Amino acid sequence: LKSIAVMTSGGDSPGMNAAARAVVRTALYEGVKVWGIRDGYHGLLEEDMFEMKSKDVGDIIQRGGTFLGTARCNRWKTPEGRMLGYQHLVDRGIQGLCVIGGDGSLRGASLLSQETGIPIVGLPGTIDNDVWGSDYTIGCDTAANTIIDAINKLRDTASAHRRVIVMEVMGRSSGWLALVSGISGGAEYILVPESPFDLDKICEDMKVAYQEGKRYILVVVAEGAGSGQEIGDYIAKKTELDTRVSVLGHIQRGGSPSVIDRVRASQLGEQAALALISGLSDIVFGFSKGRVVSIDLHDSVNNKKKLDPEYLHLAKVLF
Ligand code: F6P
Repeated sequence: LKSIAVMTSGGDSPGMNAAARAVVRTALYEGVKVWGIRDGYHGLLEEDMFEMKSKDVGDIIQRGGTFLGTARCNRWKTPEGRMLGYQHLVDRGIQGLCVIGGDGSLRGASLLSQETGIPIVGLPGTIDNDVWGSDYTIGCDTAANTIIDAINKLRDTASAHRRVIVMEVMGRSSGWLALVSGISGGAEYILVPESPFDLDKICEDMKVAYQEGKRYILVVVAEGAGSGQEIGDYIAKKTELDTRVSVLGHIQRGGSPSVIDRVRASQLGEQAALALISGLSDIVFGFSKGRVVSIDLHDSVNNKKKLDPEYLHLAKVLF
């Protein structure tokens, strides 16, 4: 292909800038025109796009968020919306599209490709690490590190007061962020949607632990496993232990990307541009066992990623 476009879509994630930068610079290096689309599918429908030069992606690799902007777009869920977006690409001679986003954004990309045949390559950009076929998504490492920082601070105050702290983290229907941050933060309990838990039994165990001299307990709850506030209220009522709830919220989405997120996003961006230029389509680039892999786009959106059973086991053993 001789002209491609890149967009970021859905929830932003640290490293999206590095990925878009790599798409742009790889395309220019290969002598191919590259367009940036602002605010995801919404911007495509509004024709908010511009041809990019190398300097347009200068001074962004270290920034969180996405310089292209992003959006959640309901109009893209309709075939009419997608056809209009396709027309806007054709009008500018854009022959292929790289979509950087999570589950929903890749689903939108999969439909566009099925309906119009335009070459599409997806990159998994979400803090949730829930894209099937890849054991990594752009931003998950930075978000996990942000959570760890919060856990370290919460432990200080929990220990000072002999409190139970319940901390709710993001992840949508995935427990990945809760699981890895709980393991690396040394949480006593990690509640994830993928694994059943018995809150009454947990409350009984907590009471015993306190009687035996424990100074504090940290419970990490994935948002998909339940509301941190409700779980905290339940624990407080059942155990009569001094309990506080902390909902980390959108802090998890921001911040300067980690080294891992910058390097991996750059690798993925390069592969996406090269694939589009050589005419490949309907793939998502991700990582498996530390190496870049390509995944069928439609398989990726039609399957639900599972949590690594070894991590789940480790969480049990280390508790
Ligand atoms: O998909 C990323 C994510 O941050 C989820 O973890 C969370 O459930 C959701 O987005 C929040 O979405 P919004 O930013 O639209 O409130």
